[in-house]
Amino acid sequence: MSEREVGFQHGLTNYGDRDFSLYLRRSFAQSMGYSQEMLAKPVIGIAYTGSGFNNCHRHFPELLDAVKRGVLAAGALPVEFPTISLGEVFLSPTSLKYRNLMSMDTEEMVRAQPMDAVVLMGGCDKTVPAQLMGAVSAGRPAIMLIAGPMMTGRHRGEKLGACTDCRRFWARYRAGDIDKTEISTVEGRLATTAGTCAVMGTASTMACIAEALGLILPGTAAIPAVHADRLRAAEATGAAAVRLIGSKLTPERIVNAKSVENALRVLLALGGSTNAVIHLTAIAGRAGVNVSLEQLNKLSSTTPVLVNLKPVGNGYMEDFFAAGGMGSLLRELKDLLHLDCMTVTGETLGERFSAEIETYVDRNIIAARKEPLEPQGGLVALFGNIAPKGAILKRSAADAKLFEHEGKAVVFSSLADLAKRIDDPALEVEAHDILVLQNAGPNAPEAMPEAGYLPIPKKLAAKGVKDMIRVSDARMSGTAFGTIVLHVTPDAASGGPLGLVRNGDRIKLSVKEHRIDLLVDDAELKRRAAVVKPAAEKPERGYARLYAQEILGADQGCDFAFLKPRSSSRG
Ligand code: FES
Repeated sequence: MSEREVGFQHGLTNYGDRDFSLYLRRSFAQSMGYSQEMLAKPVIGIAYTGSGFNNCHRHFPELLDAVKRGVLAAGALPVEFPTISLGEVFLSPTSLKYRNLMSMDTEEMVRAQPMDAVVLMGGCDKTVPAQLMGAVSAGRPAIMLIAGPMMTGRHRGEKLGACTDCRRFWARYRAGDIDKTEISTVEGRLATTAGTCAVMGTASTMACIAEALGLILPGTAAIPAVHADRLRAAEATGAAAVRLIGSKLTPERIVNAKSVENALRVLLALGGSTNAVIHLTAIAGRAGVNVSLEQLNKLSSTTPVLVNLKPVGNGYMEDFFAAGGMGSLLRELKDLLHLDCMTVTGETLGERFSAEIETYVDRNIIAARKEPLEPQGGLVALFGNIAPKGAILKRSAADAKLFEHEGKAVVFSSLADLAKRIDDPALEVEAHDILVLQNAGPNAPEAMPEAGYLPIPKKLAAKGVKDMIRVSDARMSGTAFGTIVLHVTPDAASGGPLGLVRNGDRIKLSVKEHRIDLLVDDAELKRRAAVVKPAAEKPERGYARLYAQEILGADQGCDFAFLKPRSSSRG
């Protein structure tokens, strides 16, 4: 790209005659009613992900107007373009399968179309990691605008927020505690406004991580979707994108070893979603930065949990915003953070603190460092002969009484097997057993669904059992809770030892020692491995085939092998 290129001059279609190419492009652009004056301006692309299949982005038309206002007022031409949008609950088999496709769409459209900088509009769950992965790989100046969280609903005087309360009420319904009429009423009261899930689930965690990385405007991660401040943030984001024109401050430079460490600290202090470990690993990986689970454990031992939001605590995202939001949290963590990290505004993280005027903190929601909710981080990585490359436990959402436990494995070989037998009255299971789900990892046909939150077998739920140790290669929704060991790597479908667990085996969990072990000797495991049937044939064509060929393990963020940069880890 030569320096004199501006706006529509970028990346001309090649007909072998540059002037003709420009003339042709301008004539077609004029068909959209732009004046010559507008066509001469720099262009801010807006990656737009409004979709009828994405309830969380319902307010995007209004936000788009505000972004455009900001761009125009700052002197550039805003041009939106559609990309894939991933509405979490509308995708089969799972939205994760399409995260990498959306990242490819974003990367290629940002690079292929004529723009000087881009605003990425995302929010629902996988959309933020997909856009950030794409932006890091595209290497163009970029800034993100987050959708913002939903407001809570009300049911019989109680606040309801998707989706922790979805699960809580469903568990009550399964246990026979509430009837069909009430669960149907609750269904209409869980998600009542535009915006992302109202708790510290994956979407909210990723919004906070985007702010910790320095890729959105300061103080904007937690603004509710329907708040007027969200529109002001959109306008300011449009203006900030114009200031990025010509800047060398591109996402692959903002995402580096130090900013990724800051993001991990934030994730741990939030008691954030386990999914965020996968997504942050993938985003960092695109910038050539390696995230290891050993590093996560090291940081976890020195990062307290400070944020009291569901599913770990009591509040909702609207409370986090009112309590001071990310500014307050980052100030609490200040001495643990790399303050010299550059942010998308051109300021360092440290300079952000000196610019802040509002320093109010609601201590019911954001605890002080000297009085943390938990002295250690919300997530811990486990290793052992079941999980040689690691597994994740969200200890802040788990029952500490189960942290040092040995129990008998009750094994489900697939999601279909789980669905068939979990509520069978003949299922031999006790509350102190360990439920194991196999073949639900990234290499399984279901593409690592959020099935790690195995339901408590109905006959135990009816007796009041609320939690059990559950082990799988699946993921768990960021809004779920329980003593749940996830992301066991390598996964069973790629030949990992999780697939060798059999009913009645003993499994030992020790959170203190960061271990999860199958108490079966190596010779027996070798015997079992020798008779394991080969994995099912790979799909014949299309994206499913690409996915099956290229998908990496959870330890590498479930990115595609060919999308990782060729160069090795950098600082
Ligand atoms: Fe969109 Fe939860 S469904 S964030």
